[in-house]
Amino acid sequence: MATLDIKFLPDPILRRKARPVSRVDARIQRLLDDMLETMYASNGVGLAAPQVGISQRLIVLDIGDGPIRVVNPRLTFLGDEEELATEGCLSVPGVVGDVWRSLRILVRGLDENGRSLKLQAEGFLARAFQHEVDHLDGVLFVDKASDVRPITTEEAPEEDLEEGAPLDQTARSA
Ligand code: NI
Repeated sequence: MATLDIKFLPDPILRRKARPVSRVDARIQRLLDDMLETMYASNGVGLAAPQVGISQRLIVLDIGDGPIRVVNPRLTFLGDEEELATEGCLSVPGVVGDVWRSLRILVRGLDENGRSLKLQAEGFLARAFQHEVDHLDGVLFVDKASDVRPITTEEAPEEDLEEGAPLDQTARSA
């Protein structure tokens, strides 16, 4: 496995709509593993392929319950009930902001073996999925956030995660 370079705003790749993956092969599997390694090395909870310079529809997440890899993820259900919480992003270092996200979602896509996958998520994991899928469409949390502000000590990552707050922030960023 290898650690990849993270792209930062205003890198144009972060604004591009990523292409679907046509075949889940060894290259894609290796890329998913490298994305996970990169995410862990940055203390993130999620990462999308455009964030490492690859415009393909691939995301990885781990909010502490083990790694999740999804190829061509689609949010096929977004619950009406929404929650406002603080997010950050590995590609937009140094700031956080409050974003409304659906509390419950359904994700469909393919797993790392190319098999179809269906996942229900709620709360912080649902938020992380919405943040990562946005990346695949060139959308960043700062586009949706109110009150984008510099990270303060109180918002230091680890604690926030316990409260179900931020995301892909410095220590907990996606
Ligand atoms: Ni992000």
